[in-house]
Amino acid sequence: MQTILITGGAGFIGSHLTRLFVSKYPQYKIINLDALTYAGNLQNLSDIESRSNYQFIKGDITNAKLVNEIFETHQITSVLHCAAESHVDRSIADPLAFVRTNVIGTVTLLQAAKEYWNGDYENKLFYHISTDEVYGSLGETGFFYEDTAYDPRSPYSASKASSDHFVRAYHHTYQLPVKISNCSNNYGPFHFPEKLIPLSINNIINNKPLPIYGKGENIRDWLYVEDHVRAIDLIFHKGKNGETYNIGGHNEWTNIALIRELCRQMDHKLNREAGSSEKLISFVKDRAGHDLRYAIDATKLKDELGWLPSLQFEEGLSKTIDWYLANTAWLNDVVNGSYKDYYEEQYHKR
Ligand code: NAD
Ligand code: DAU
Repeated sequence: MQTILITGGAGFIGSHLTRLFVSKYPQYKIINLDALTYAGNLQNLSDIESRSNYQFIKGDITNAKLVNEIFETHQITSVLHCAAESHVDRSIADPLAFVRTNVIGTVTLLQAAKEYWNGDYENKLFYHISTDEVYGSLGETGFFYEDTAYDPRSPYSASKASSDHFVRAYHHTYQLPVKISNCSNNYGPFHFPEKLIPLSINNIINNKPLPIYGKGENIRDWLYVEDHVRAIDLIFHKGKNGETYNIGGHNEWTNIALIRELCRQMDHKLNREAGSSEKLISFVKDRAGHDLRYAIDATKLKDELGWLPSLQFEEGLSKTIDWYLANTAWLNDVVNGSYKDYYEEQYHKR
């Protein structure tokens, strides 16, 4: 019997991970601890919220008293730690919020796990969901490997690098069983429309400008979110204790090429004249310290656990656009902020 604490389960990746584990493993009990910041949205989980093996707790991972109580009350056997401040631009504006959640929050969880498990580490695991941004920025060639030296360059990536270091420190110092995965850029349903792809989909729908930072030459390696959580499932169950796994799509796009492909597909789906969405492209001031290129080598995950991405990017992007076009109510609720009412209605009025 496993009781798994998923943190940040109401966010983008966390909601896909929670859905997968709740549906695929009815024998596991899943506790979702999420503070419901601006990025947390319980509507992301409305299809599974009444399952008997699922429970939501609204709370902050930096609240040590609450976190300790959850470990004791629910007899937590594993942690899938997703909660984070995740947006690079917000980290440039407010670095301390990232130190608080990503560093102090992670150490609070590690400490609670260490104290509650108290050296009995059989069938226990602390799994940290991390990012490729900890490795820094690549030039035109090369890849990030699991042993690439850390070189974070934004407050966001510095906070994630710090949290990775703490996870490894708890493994080496206290033998806490841990796994870390570092993934490239995700896309798919429930992605908050502050990030490049959902922001651009929303702006195309509404005929608003598409802000491209700098010249649009920065490169990201895009992976469909369901492929990411499938990798996490494999690593959680079959990966080795203390190990790090890189997860990526082998799917590099410059931002401008990606946005042109998005415009092409959306013109077609919205029955607009070919080329009309591209006219919305607007080059704006670059992001401060903008990393040029990320590219993951995921050979270890393929060789050890047989994982490969299942979707070609054009297909994944098409599925993603279709989801946003079919879920304009979700999108509008997020954009106008009314998704925050959902928690009140769902949990305080019954
Ligand atoms: P997100 O911003 O969509 O969701 C974060 C979730 O964490 C939200 O539900 C939010 O309410 C919750 N949260 C934030 N602060 C909290 C706190 N103090 N206590 C409790 N809950 C809190 O993020 P995401 O894009 O789903 O990313 C999830 C994880 O995956 C993060 O750790 C991120 O670093 C990592 N990651 C993301 C990507 C990506 O492309 N999105 C890629 C690689 C790794
Ligand atoms: O690589 C993994 C990381 O990917 C995750 O760890 C982060 O949580 C996630 O937010 C993402 O970070 P990026 O900064 O790469 O994602 P974002 O969608 O913000 O930006 C993607 C690229 O597009 C980046 O080069 C900046 C650029 N961009 C972004 C926005 C929001 C624009 O040109 N215009 C925009 O309006």
